[in-house]
Amino acid sequence: MSRLFETATLTTPDGSGLTVRNRTALAPMCQYSVTAKDGVPHDWHLVHLGARAAGGFGLVFTEATSIVPEGRISDQDTGIWNDGQAAAWAPIVDFIHGQGAAAGIQLAHAGGKASTHPWLPEAAASGARGSIPVAEGGWQTVGPSATDLHKLASPREMTRGEIAESVAAWADAARRADAAGFDVVQIHGAHGYLIHQFLSPLANGRTDEYGGGYENRTRYAREVLAAVRDAWPAHKPLALRLSGEDWVEGGWRLADTVRFAREARGLGVTVFDLSSGGLGPFRGPSGPGYQVPLAAAVKEALAGTGAFVTAVGMITEPQQAEQVLVTGQADGVSIARAALVEPHWAAIAAKALGVDRDHNPRAPQYWRADW
Ligand SMILES: Cc1cc2nc3c(=O)[nH]c(=O)nc-3n(C[C@H](O)[C@H](O)[C@H](O)COP(=O)(O)O)c2cc1C
Repeated sequence: MSRLFETATLTTPDGSGLTVRNRTALAPMCQYSVTAKDGVPHDWHLVHLGARAAGGFGLVFTEATSIVPEGRISDQDTGIWNDGQAAAWAPIVDFIHGQGAAAGIQLAHAGGKASTHPWLPEAAASGARGSIPVAEGGWQTVGPSATDLHKLASPREMTRGEIAESVAAWADAARRADAAGFDVVQIHGAHGYLIHQFLSPLANGRTDEYGGGYENRTRYAREVLAAVRDAWPAHKPLALRLSGEDWVEGGWRLADTVRFAREARGLGVTVFDLSSGGLGPFRGPSGPGYQVPLAAAVKEALAGTGAFVTAVGMITEPQQAEQVLVTGQADGVSIARAALVEPHWAAIAAKALGVDRDHNPRAPQYWRADW
């Protein structure tokens, strides 16, 4: 029996739990496809996410979906700052459910890393990279402080009023995600975006109670998690993606991550996905499963608390994913690029790991593909 294809129950504050059909998740991946620039998901998102739900993933996450217009990485990102966007997500969620998968939405605010060129061939071919200037349709970004982020236009320091407004915007977005039918909200606390900017000394130069030592730098993240947990129904699990490492001395380190994960668990976070990096030019290790040790450290720290820890990053092979679980380093895996290559990654992995046809999560329409 494959551990990867065992069901898992994600704990919830009300004790009911959400059971997912297996331990594979489609990792959030920006599609930069909202050409109308209104944040409304459309057919592309339905087909992209729907195909991967049909392809057997247990939990399918949307791309980074912004809680406010100025929080978008690019102006072609999806959003959930208004009810029209939530209404457009609803049929996509329904389709994912119809395929037997759970639906997760990654809520995001890019902070000082907002207003950038979409990572698409057209922009790459024209040499357009980094910030889009205000004069060319971009916008003034905001962050914990005006600290320069690597090769990007400087953000403007958020006022305390703006911090409070943004905390409320995360909670409002979670309410809309519930209305759209999502099962899991994941807070994007990784990759150098707004929450990570507050957490890391590399990006947070504030001198008030939101900057300085660990306690102050983590305040914004704690406020966001508490507000979202309050707004998000008690029968639904809350997830958090963290950069476990800035990979540089003086940055946000694994010890900070472990400490913060314990606090986040206390605030009602169930699912922890451990990525890394995103601030500055700092490169950590690379190679198959390079971030698994970060997940393993958090899993060990949260043992026995009901947390569910997932590993991500260059996990591409079924046996490799299975080993991550069998060796107790994580409870599940998140798959990104391998699922761009192969939407049916999970169903193919199930077969490779000896899961029989009756228990393979492949869409029944496709059963004749490989038996
Ligand atoms: C096209 C693309 C878009 C991505 N967009 C997001 C995103 O919206 N949110 C996020 O947290 N990570 C994003 N990532 C990072 C992935 O979720 C994942 O962490 C990373 O690609 C490493 O996993 P992999 O080796 O399986 O691809 C993106 C990655 C790719 C390739």
